[in-house]
Amino acid sequence: MAQRRLDSTRKRKSFSISALGGIAAVVVLAVTAPGLAGSLSSADQQCLACHGTAGLEKPLPNGETLSLHIDGDTFAKSVHSVIGCASCHSDIDLNKHPTPNNSIASKRSFSIVRAKVCSACHSEEHKQWSHSVHAALVRDGNPVAPLCTSCHSPHAVIKGVAEAMDTVPCKTCHGAIFTAYAGSVHGALRSAGVTHAPLCFSCHGAHDVTVPTANRGMKDVCLGCHTDAVAAHQKWLPNTLLHFDVVSCPACHAPKAQRTVDLVLYNSTTHKDAARPVGVPEFENTAGSGATSPSGLDPVTLFNLLRALNRPGIANKTSIKGRLDVRTGVEAHELAPSNKAISDCSTCHRAGAQAFQSVTISVAGPGGIPIHYGVDKDVLSSVFSINSIGGFYAIGGTRITFLDVLLILGLLVGFGGPLLHLILRWTYRRHQSGSDHEQGKR
Ligand code: HEC
Ligand code: HEC
Ligand code: HEC
Ligand code: HEC
Ligand code: HEC
Ligand code: HEC
Ligand code: HEC
Ligand code: HEC
Ligand code: HEC
Repeated sequence: MAQRRLDSTRKRKSFSISALGGIAAVVVLAVTAPGLAGSLSSADQQCLACHGTAGLEKPLPNGETLSLHIDGDTFAKSVHSVIGCASCHSDIDLNKHPTPNNSIASKRSFSIVRAKVCSACHSEEHKQWSHSVHAALVRDGNPVAPLCTSCHSPHAVIKGVAEAMDTVPCKTCHGAIFTAYAGSVHGALRSAGVTHAPLCFSCHGAHDVTVPTANRGMKDVCLGCHTDAVAAHQKWLPNTLLHFDVVSCPACHAPKAQRTVDLVLYNSTTHKDAARPVGVPEFENTAGSGATSPSGLDPVTLFNLLRALNRPGIANKTSIKGRLDVRTGVEAHELAPSNKAISDCSTCHRAGAQAFQSVTISVAGPGGIPIHYGVDKDVLSSVFSINSIGGFYAIGGTRITFLDVLLILGLLVGFGGPLLHLILRWTYRRHQSGSDHEQGKR
């Protein structure tokens, strides 16, 4: 405590010294500013007379220090030199500025207020950003989610800088993903100067960034560039479109990644990922609930949970979608050249396949970002799950064995994909209607 007070006195002292230095500099700089800054308007040079002084800073009540130094040459080179300081700082009246007791609670609160000015000239970007997951997190009080000025330094914006591999703003916060991306097939191409290979914002957008898993893993974004991919896969992968729906692209194209089955609680009325169900202990506290026990939620609990969520009188029905994905966001970016991709059907279509040993269930948390809970892998094959996990049925012990036999037969006698599909659908329907009957549903 004493230490902190000592620190802030020291800072306050250094502030007044540098502020004095700045005021002394007014006299010198107002006459001629050296370098590029000399090309700025006299109004701007007046501001820079004080703010061009290195070391000018303001200690904040929370112990942070707000640097007040603006480099004149850098500003003169930036796209905003044409509009001048006053376009963004119209509230500053030099007759009253600097106000000695101007209180700023924290750097973050200062940024949140100041960044609002950008929307005056860039309303389109602002509109997109305000619908993004980042903006949702800012509204939720997340202390690091990016504002305009987290990605674009307002006094140093240069054309194209946000689009370059070395200076792309995303890497400052998503460093591990950037490293994975840089080693990927796209990253290698981009480093080699192939600018039509995607960088972060080509896939996610820069301003309208959404939660990728809520967006079916962005397969449509991939297919938007890889327009021949469906046809290329159809040459060897039966039911390509179905696979693309339930298997994420990285699950095959990041061959070193761990695969996992993610079950998503899904609002079948609004067709959106369901938010965390309030009042359901399994999803309320992460510690000590069934979902965090070593083997995870068991089939019976899951069954009862869904029954509770869908009890009579509830308008929005909850169901579950299954999806085979990679385990982590980092792994999703480790895309390898396609000759390394997984083509071996038995990676998935084999009893005990590794991919089906790890199962999670996810609900939408703050900003719509999924929170994953462990689930007992038996959920996939349990009779209790048949209603809830319908539409994702080539999984689980018995069904896998069954599929294996058909597959081997099919491959041996050169079955066409469509015939195989028909047989599978037919057997499945029979199986499903049988179990519906048993449980007295639908
Ligand atoms: C006489 C020196 C001086 C001049 C000229 C000056 N400033 Fe300042 N400015 C300061 C000092 C000192 C502070 C810190 C005051 C405080 O404690 O809040 C400051 C704070 C600021 C701040 C941050 C706090 C706030 O009030 O939002 C901004 C932004 C700012 N100045 C912009 C400008 C602009 C734009 C101009 C030109 C129109 C300008 N200043 C001219 C000395 C100056
Ligand atoms: C494009 C709009 C824009 C222009 C032009 C601009 N500023 Fe700023 N300025 C901002 C924003 C936004 C912030 C808040 C930055 C943040 O999030 O910390 C800011 C912050 C500041 C601060 C507080 C210290 C800091 O960096 O956060 C000072 C001092 C300042 N500006 C001075 C100037 C001066 C002097 C000029 C002209 C040479 C200028 N500004 C031009 C938008 C602008
Ligand atoms: C008073 C109007 C105005 C305000 C306010 C303003 N800008 Fe700009 N901005 C411009 C102009 C003018 C350009 C240059 C457009 C051009 O040359 O095509 C520009 C260009 C840009 C660019 C484009 C760089 C590129 O790669 O082409 C970015 C990024 C940018 N501004 C960010 C911001 C941010 C962040 C803020 C808020 C801190 C802001 N602007 C506030 C007028 C403004
Ligand atoms: C998460 C980082 C991030 C945030 C937050 C962000 N931008 Fe950007 N912005 C980028 C990237 C990356 C680019 C370049 C890629 C592109 O053009 O799509 C860009 C490009 C721009 C451009 C150049 C024109 C264009 O669209 O290509 C403008 C203007 C701009 N941003 C303004 C803003 C404003 C205003 C805000 C706040 C509402 C903002 N940005 C928030 C990352 C961001
Ligand atoms: C200033 C820090 C910051 C910057 C810069 C930033 N992000 Fe984020 N981003 C976050 C935070 C914080 C979250 C919340 C989740 C987390 O903590 O990872 C997030 C979440 C995301 C999510 C959703 C994550 C999920 O699990 O579904 C995506 C996608 C994303 N960011 C992409 C980007 C892209 C693309 C860029 C560059 C255009 C970018 N981010 C720049 C801080 C940042
Ligand atoms: C080729 C398209 C592509 C590029 C380029 C790309 N991403 Fe992603 N990103 C994805 C896919 C696909 C997912 C995973 C979706 C899923 O889990 O199904 C993802 C997921 C994410 C997530 C959520 C991670 C999580 O924990 O769920 C973040 C954050 C993210 N990306 C940030 C970035 C950043 C930062 C960059 C640049 C370094 C980047 N992405 C480049 C396609 C891309
Ligand atoms: C902005 C366009 C763009 C987007 C979006 C995009 N890619 Fe690519 N991708 C390319 C380009 C360009 C290449 C290199 C040329 C080529 O092989 O087609 C490439 C190469 C690849 C390769 C290597 C092909 C080979 O023959 O080795 C794979 C695999 C790949 N992309 C998968 C994906 C996946 C998965 C996604 C979505 C997560 C995606 N791409 C999104 C443009 C894109
Ligand atoms: C079941 C595994 C699997 C899935 C799912 C999968 N791929 Fe592939 N993909 C492969 C394999 C294996 C190859 C290589 C085939 C070959 O060399 O003939 C390949 C080849 C490719 C190629 C290069 C071939 C070309 O010329 O188009 C691209 C691009 C590609 N995939 C993109 C995607 C995208 C985008 C997705 C998601 C929509 C996806 N893949 C889903 C396994 C898969
Ligand atoms: C990365 C894992 C993975 C790989 C590799 C894979 N599949 Fe699949 N496949 C799945 C999943 C998951 C489903 C479940 C789809 C469903 O039930 O809705 C599926 C479904 C199927 C179906 C059933 C379609 C239906 O509508 O009944 C057939 C047939 C099939 N796969 C054949 C193959 C063949 C042949 C290969 C190899 C050329 C292959 N798969 C490779 C994961 C995979």
